[in-house]
Amino acid sequence: MATVLHITAHPHDHQTSYSMAVGKAFIDAYREANPQDEVIPIDLYRVQVPHIDADVFSGWGKLRSGQEFSTLTSDESAKVNAINGFTEQFIAADKYVFVTPMWNFSFPPVMKAYLDALCIAGKTFKYTESGPVGLLNGKKALHIQARGGVYSEGPAAPMESGHRYIGIIMGFFGIPDLQGLFVEGHNQFPDKAAQIKADAIKRAEELARTF
Ligand SMILES: Cc1cc2nc3c(=O)[nH]c(=O)nc-3n(C[C@H](O)[C@H](O)[C@H](O)COP(=O)(O)O)c2cc1C
Repeated sequence: MATVLHITAHPHDHQTSYSMAVGKAFIDAYREANPQDEVIPIDLYRVQVPHIDADVFSGWGKLRSGQEFSTLTSDESAKVNAINGFTEQFIAADKYVFVTPMWNFSFPPVMKAYLDALCIAGKTFKYTESGPVGLLNGKKALHIQARGGVYSEGPAAPMESGHRYIGIIMGFFGIPDLQGLFVEGHNQFPDKAAQIKADAIKRAEELARTF
């Protein structure tokens, strides 16, 4: 039995969002093909992911200098605990499905906060003399994203910074092959929007059977 995290970074649901609609199609088909697996939804617009702020730095600093967890202020301990929880949940899972819309060539800021919460030395990666090494080998990751224009090829491709960034972080964790499933060009070609969405949903359902 595998544990799948279905991580969504969208303020809307599948009825208005293309990303969420394709993400839902993927997860529904995945559940059907893998009824024994556990799918855990994480809605990043409903959970509080702490930013790495002054409380987090001072909490981490106290722990690093050997102080007991009980010496942390309530803000420090709440934020450090929440970050630990997200990291442990991520490590315990086997597969990740990220769902984001393209916003300004990337993804919404809650996604960055979530990825920051996962980049913990000694847990998801470690430092060695030859550089950082990922600790999450053997896991699988997929990123589903809707984009108004076209970025998987053509002149705008170099501006794409969201899928590339998630891929860098996954590689940093030891997961080298972030898969991508994109719904793109529906704003640029509005007359083709319905077909673009339908094709992406079909691809999602196919991919779900082998992911
Ligand atoms: C704040 C914001 C920023 C956007 N930035 C881009 C962009 O950089 N490039 C692009 O092609 N489309 C951009 N769009 C259009 C969205 O990518 C497009 O509407 C897509 O369908 C959003 O995903 P969704 O349908 O899941 O909401 C942007 C939309 C919003 C609301």
